[in-house]
Amino acid sequence: MTQRLRVGILGCGAIAPAYLKNLTGDLSALVEIAACADLDLDLARKRAEEFRVDNVVTAEEMLSDAGIDLVVNLTPAPAHFKTSLQVLQAGKHLFTEKPLCLTLEEGRELLDTAERNNVQIGGAADTFLGGSFHSCSKLVQEGAIGFPVVAHALITVGTFDSMRYHKVFSGSLLDLGPYYITAMIMLFGSVKRVSGIADVRFPEKVDGQSGERFSLDRASTAVASLSFESGVVATVIATEDVHNYFPSVEVFGRTGRMKLSDANMYGEKVSVETNQEKRSINPSSNDGYISKGRGLGVAEMALALKDGRSPRASGALMYHVLEAMLAVYESSKSGVSMTIESRAEPFRPLQDSELKSILGT
Ligand SMILES: NC(=O)c1ccc[n+]([C@@H]2O[C@H](COP(=O)([O-])OP(=O)(O)OC[C@H]3O[C@@H](n4cnc5c(N)ncnc54)[C@H](O)[C@@H]3O)[C@@H](O)[C@H]2O)c1
Repeated sequence: MTQRLRVGILGCGAIAPAYLKNLTGDLSALVEIAACADLDLDLARKRAEEFRVDNVVTAEEMLSDAGIDLVVNLTPAPAHFKTSLQVLQAGKHLFTEKPLCLTLEEGRELLDTAERNNVQIGGAADTFLGGSFHSCSKLVQEGAIGFPVVAHALITVGTFDSMRYHKVFSGSLLDLGPYYITAMIMLFGSVKRVSGIADVRFPEKVDGQSGERFSLDRASTAVASLSFESGVVATVIATEDVHNYFPSVEVFGRTGRMKLSDANMYGEKVSVETNQEKRSINPSSNDGYISKGRGLGVAEMALALKDGRSPRASGALMYHVLEAMLAVYESSKSGVSMTIESRAEPFRPLQDSELKSILGT
């Protein structure tokens, strides 16, 4: 077996098992989980035991361990900047959960630090590496819906009274927006311009579990218009003020409509409708693309590092998505549309040989 990338998991909370399951299982050909760390060492121990990881360490020990090549940052969004900066300063590659961080200044500092230390940043959203998105991209390329004209992303979550959702996840746009906006960027090219309506309608809420009052510094409902380099225009609705999860991305082309039911998943069904046909594609039973879930971006990044290139779900892409999301709030405040300065690399579908390397088949 070739030398695998030695990976540390930083943050062993709710999402960690999904990563650990795949990265110690189906996605372990290029990755070895070398250690688990958390502020709560008992929790790190529990995860390590469940997934047979030998080492449980503090964050400091993980950063000073010369045997760890890459750290997967699964801490809450407000901790991303500080923890990610420490990882990069320690000379380690970083794969971070979304969002990259919470301000553009922080994002720039992370990208600059990575460059200075000659390490790479990768991170979520990496769902566009899965089967659903590959099916969407192929359908658009093949002209199944004609040339894309307009798109719509709907992101609703039933977390109106959840303080955790606001504090750990930073609200629906910053939490789930990356999946949907990244998917649209990969289909239509970089975002050029954004306008938004994101007024804080509920400045204070009461947590449903603890009864504690909490204040909202960011709108819990946001509506945005995005204009892409290809000329496609899209709307995004992101809200945690409704009663349930109703995700979708719809693309209306010149001659048809394509719907991806959930851009937060790797192998969801894709449907296409034209005047002549209605069909659905189930990517997991389709043409060999991966529908494995969390950890796919880490495995692809391991391959990228081996091949001496940037990961597809790169820090630069995360920065571009962050700029577009923050522009929604800025535009809402200023009343003018925002020009987006950063750009994303075009989508490069995973090749068969790359899939084989990632899966070790
Ligand atoms: N929960 C989900 O369904 C889900 C899904 C996809 C992505 N995510 C993302 O994953 C990240 C984590 O979410 P979660 O739901 O697992 O949160 P969580 O609160 O359940 O877990 C976070 C863990 O990080 C630890 N932590 C915090 N600061 C730390 C530090 N400085 N050093 C070491 N450990 C630290 C906490 O002790 C906690 O155990 C967030 O960015 C979230 O957006 C979560």
